Amino acid sequence: MCGIVGYTGPRQAYPLIIKGLKRLEYRGYDSSGVALLNGTGLKVFKKKGRVTDLEEAVIGKNLEANIGIGHTRWATHGEPSDRNAHPHSSASGKLAIIHNGIIENYAQIKQELVKKGYSFTSDTDTEVLLNFIEDIQKNNSCTLEEALRIALKRVSGAYCILLIDQDDPTTIVAARKGSPLVIGIGKGEHFLASDASPIIEYTKEVVYVNDYELAIVKPDELILKNLGNEKVTPYITKLDMELAAIEKGGYDHFMIKEIFEQPSTIYDCLRGRLDAEAGAIRMSGIEKNIEQLKNANRIMIIACGTSWHAGLVAEYIIEELCRIPVEVEYASEFRYRNPIVNKGDVIIAISQSGETADTLVALEKAKENGAFIFGIVNVVGSSIARISHAGAYTHAGPEIGVASTKAFTGQLAVLFMVALKIAQEKGTISTERFNNLVNELSEIPEKVDAILKNAEEVKKIAEVYKNASDFLFLGRGYNFPVALEGALKLKEISYIHAEGYPAAEMKHGPIALVDDTLPVVFIATKDTYHEKIVSNMQEIKARRGKIISIVTEGDEVSPGLSDHYFSIPPADELIAPILTVIPLQLLSYYVGTAKGIDVDKPRNLAKSVTVE
Ligand code: F6R
Repeated sequence: MCGIVGYTGPRQAYPLIIKGLKRLEYRGYDSSGVALLNGTGLKVFKKKGRVTDLEEAVIGKNLEANIGIGHTRWATHGEPSDRNAHPHSSASGKLAIIHNGIIENYAQIKQELVKKGYSFTSDTDTEVLLNFIEDIQKNNSCTLEEALRIALKRVSGAYCILLIDQDDPTTIVAARKGSPLVIGIGKGEHFLASDASPIIEYTKEVVYVNDYELAIVKPDELILKNLGNEKVTPYITKLDMELAAIEKGGYDHFMIKEIFEQPSTIYDCLRGRLDAEAGAIRMSGIEKNIEQLKNANRIMIIACGTSWHAGLVAEYIIEELCRIPVEVEYASEFRYRNPIVNKGDVIIAISQSGETADTLVALEKAKENGAFIFGIVNVVGSSIARISHAGAYTHAGPEIGVASTKAFTGQLAVLFMVALKIAQEKGTISTERFNNLVNELSEIPEKVDAILKNAEEVKKIAEVYKNASDFLFLGRGYNFPVALEGALKLKEISYIHAEGYPAAEMKHGPIALVDDTLPVVFIATKDTYHEKIVSNMQEIKARRGKIISIVTEGDEVSPGLSDHYFSIPPADELIAPILTVIPLQLLSYYVGTAKGIDVDKPRNLAKSVTVE
């Protein structure tokens, strides 16, 4: 949440920062701003709205500068407005700050500063932090770096901050705790950002700054220190990402590009791990920790949102294949109750971004209690990847559309391989069943491709129902979490109220909603529950609800009960969720675009939720 970019070096900072902010807009898009330093001093420009609104607002201004910081905001403290937009400048006008995170004890610090005569121009916690830093600098006659270090020992909360100082016009001082910071190393220049996307164009050498570290960044020097003022050696990583991966590549939106990428992202996820010919799965993170995993007393899956839905599918699969009890927890609930976590417990953390604050803190808590953490993460080098004891990346590539699509199918593919591998080692699966499932999994990219070839059929269905005010999504067994995911996707992207339910639960309440205007989406593929779900369809039909169904090719029953149906290739019921979710992703995309919504940046949302 909130994107930050900084630059110091010989290039013009403004165009580089604006380009970077556009790449980070998925992290927040209610206002944006830049602070630039040049011979004439510090200049701050900021504007409510998108980065393009900022660009318009600065037309005709002098933007010459070789150092600058920029921010795109997702509001926490203070409504989206010009004055609450970042950067903020200090009382003296010499310092500027951008911040991603929340300073939890800002109210107390603000009171102290108000008593000293400070006044504030915004409602933000960030402006308080900046004046606190400046006050320390003044009182202690110390450097900005020292003042920042003292300030950070007082504040609680999460932050990634960048600071510039008119009196030191080549240096950016940065610090992080809980919100990400990547520093790109160029020749005589440095780039700072919330993720690598603004940097990739200029250098592939990056340093991921750790929590409680400060960075003093000059064009030709990068110094990292801990809060105890000891130097830390920067660990340089080579980025394994291409520029094309973060561009739209001819598609109208990132979301549809990412939906259509799924045959190749799932293939990339399986590649090198799944060997259908040899009937084997190779995953070093599992192999090295197999005793821990196969002897787990219990597996707890911790995640949020779409990743939590992937966890629910995994609960069914792991219990079926490995016979280990599984609990799936919302990270935000887990962290604030007093959960029982014991030494023999394994935690599986699922996160696309690897930076979700609720998940991260929940994991820290579980780790303190001695749990073994296995991370399933998409963003390489992210915080969750780093605090996990072991893990497996989903290899879906950068996911930029705010609604998660390809990360979800990648998570399902990894979770499926994890379950199969543990089951094999534990002896809870026969060789024949193992080989069958490995074969089925290897065919998934092709089947996803076949579904996408018929995307126009889903578009036609979306046209019919785009003006509905509510939707119900129903599924059973492995497809119940897919019903939840279908409802979440539609809500996010089209602003239509939608609920997901286990199909049989419908008669315990939601059936009261059914009338001839309510579209009900059934995931009714051929599986153990097929006859049961057909009965549920009858119940909806009897009440004149509109039925849209996702059915298996060749099914002769469900289409007859449906107003509209979409066929998908047959698959084992354990693997089917990777296929059944695809038409639901398409449905939300086409309904959202038909309603004229900016589906990559739906209102109120942001990707990578780094606040609680
Ligand atoms: C929904 C969506 C969110 C995320 C959730 C967790 O489309 O994207 O619900 O799934 O915020 O994010 P990660 O997976 O990054 O931890």
